Amino acid sequence: MLRSLLLTLLLATPAAAQNLDSLLARMTLEEKLGQLNLLSANGQASPQQMQLVRAGKLGGLFNVIGAENTTPVQRIAVTDSRLKIPLLFGLDVIHGYRTIFPIPLGEASSFDPDAAEATARAAGQEAAAFGINWTYAPMVDIARDPRWGRIAEGSGEDPYLGSLMAAARVRGFQQSIFATAKHFAGYGAAEAGREYNETEISQRTMREVYLPPFKAAVDAGVASLMSAFNDIAGVPASGNAWLTDTVLRREWGFKGFVVSDWTSVAELINHGVAGSQAEAGRRALTAGVDMDMQSSIYVDSLAALVRSNRIPIRVVDSAVMRILRAKQRLGLFRDPYRARTAPANPELRATARRVAGESIVLLKNEPAGRGAACCAPTLPLAKSGTIAVIGPLADNKEEPLGPWHTQGQAADVVTVLQGIMSKVPAATQVVYAQGAGMEDTSTAGFAAALAAARQAKVAVLVLGERGDMSGEAASRSSLGLPGVQQELLEAIAATGTPVVLVLMNGRPLILEWASDHVPAIVETWFLGVEAGNATADVLFGDVNPSGRLPVTFPRVLGQVPLYYNHRNTGRPPDVHNKYSSKYLDVPVTPRYPFGFGLSYTTFAYGNLKLSPARARASDTVTAIVTVTNSGSREGTEVVQLYVRDEVGSVSRPVRELKAFRRVTLKPGESRAIDLRVALRDLWFYGLDMKPVVEPGTFRVYVGPNSAEGLEASFECIP
Ligand code: GLC
Repeated sequence: MLRSLLLTLLLATPAAAQNLDSLLARMTLEEKLGQLNLLSANGQASPQQMQLVRAGKLGGLFNVIGAENTTPVQRIAVTDSRLKIPLLFGLDVIHGYRTIFPIPLGEASSFDPDAAEATARAAGQEAAAFGINWTYAPMVDIARDPRWGRIAEGSGEDPYLGSLMAAARVRGFQQSIFATAKHFAGYGAAEAGREYNETEISQRTMREVYLPPFKAAVDAGVASLMSAFNDIAGVPASGNAWLTDTVLRREWGFKGFVVSDWTSVAELINHGVAGSQAEAGRRALTAGVDMDMQSSIYVDSLAALVRSNRIPIRVVDSAVMRILRAKQRLGLFRDPYRARTAPANPELRATARRVAGESIVLLKNEPAGRGAACCAPTLPLAKSGTIAVIGPLADNKEEPLGPWHTQGQAADVVTVLQGIMSKVPAATQVVYAQGAGMEDTSTAGFAAALAAARQAKVAVLVLGERGDMSGEAASRSSLGLPGVQQELLEAIAATGTPVVLVLMNGRPLILEWASDHVPAIVETWFLGVEAGNATADVLFGDVNPSGRLPVTFPRVLGQVPLYYNHRNTGRPPDVHNKYSSKYLDVPVTPRYPFGFGLSYTTFAYGNLKLSPARARASDTVTAIVTVTNSGSREGTEVVQLYVRDEVGSVSRPVRELKAFRRVTLKPGESRAIDLRVALRDLWFYGLDMKPVVEPGTFRVYVGPNSAEGLEASFECIP
């Protein structure tokens, strides 16, 4: 009994398996710098990379695909190299490994952190079965500018939703592999939405908007952070001791490690803050960037600086220990190959379909006919009659995978056309016409599309962006439908056949014409392998849409950046006052606000009560509201609670999301919903740049989105 207990304790104590201090003491300077070196492979390690592993000059590789390719390299590391230190194997498993789930922006529309945790867990399990032990996800950058392509990879514009999603994805991934919160920090503030551009972020906005999701990831135990390409007011994130040392380690107590993004260490030269590769490496390493991805500067250029004491050896040792501790935490010293079995494919696809269904946002759903004696809303569709399915994305197997789909295969994708056809009985005629390409200028395909629409009771148009029109290096200077898709939409609408517009896109689009002329609009983002089934589930009402926008949809590009949690200004918009903050030519309001989404039923709110009415900073205020399903079918509402700090020592946003809850109600059912807000979460950075919760009146709004809701207030007392 005692022996087995001791054995269990011994095996369970990873530190006993490897005394890292003694290992560090045996390492040469070259081997230490080797642990800080990370290179990309091209599916499998090159002979040169295998030689670097043998020489102890690589701490990890990424883009080595499959256990058949990771195992031989790991074997070299743990048997041939002098110190037998195992390797990290990284990969960008952003929203799925082979089974591709909705893009993160789409998944954030679910307002369901449990769903995000589930898909991250599944993706991590699948990736681990293919030799991966470290993903460069979740991307947690807040994005307020839809021109920026990487808005697709994050959770939108709100730090509260973004923080919950970040923590959920870290928990999910790290059940099997290491996660990486990226890109630290402020990447989403790229000026003019232009990729990799400079940012001008005040420290207050950095603290209150861009940093919270990273803090949430750190608090969730994320193993690593990735330092970003961008500068912050002239100080590049990958050479920024305030970020990667002061905030991350001294304030937050982060014990993991920081890896640079791609060649961002070398790019310090382009930024103009380093005059040589060695200087760039010194700047990054001493700022707190532990691992140098892809530029090979640490391993090639820093030994001389260490020997001349331009870099203290303790800086190198600290970075090396963080990497070694990470490898120990991952169990690599004990089990370097980490053989794993992937979840069964049907289970993965069922998760993909469920979460995709929750990610769909119904933006508009009105009757297609005209006149008073009119008809029911256009959706859900009946499964009878002739249905036209039109558009370049209607039967496209590649684009639903989105901009970064790792090992995802187009062959795995169920298209919208396939999803619709699998839903309807044989007697129902489905007529397909592509109508136009994604970006081409030809309208030659319009005739067939018009003919299809004319013979149908409804035309489902599947339009939007190519997957690679968002994601990295994919900023757009316009937010319309590419190519001649808008012309196709207008031509089909002109036939008089009711149109259901299904959108596939990685960012908010400008939808002015569609919003005014098309009776039904469904935002599906890029939903992954189950895109077609999930979309058909919603179109035919087998799933009642419950998605809500995690990002604002502007009316026109000229409004951008446009986000809900803005400050009030000294002259808040007033249509009756010329001298107020607004435009001459468009309203200041968005076309679709943050948090917006419709259902096939309706919900009513009543009886909002707050208690206590007077609270201290250490208290929690509970809002209780009655939500009623006032429609004719079961549905899920995302009850949202926003707060406004009426008067502060610093101007505060007009609304900030502080709680939400998905609530499923049967027709006619009413339920008292309680949402809690701890006053300590109402902090902001005061005039002295320290976090503070100030006494005063707080308004509370509880409702279906950031532009509506019941209002009450409470007092925060000293
Ligand atoms: C890319 C991206 C980053 C990714 C890394 C490795 O440039 O910015 O998100 O994780 O390189 O692929």
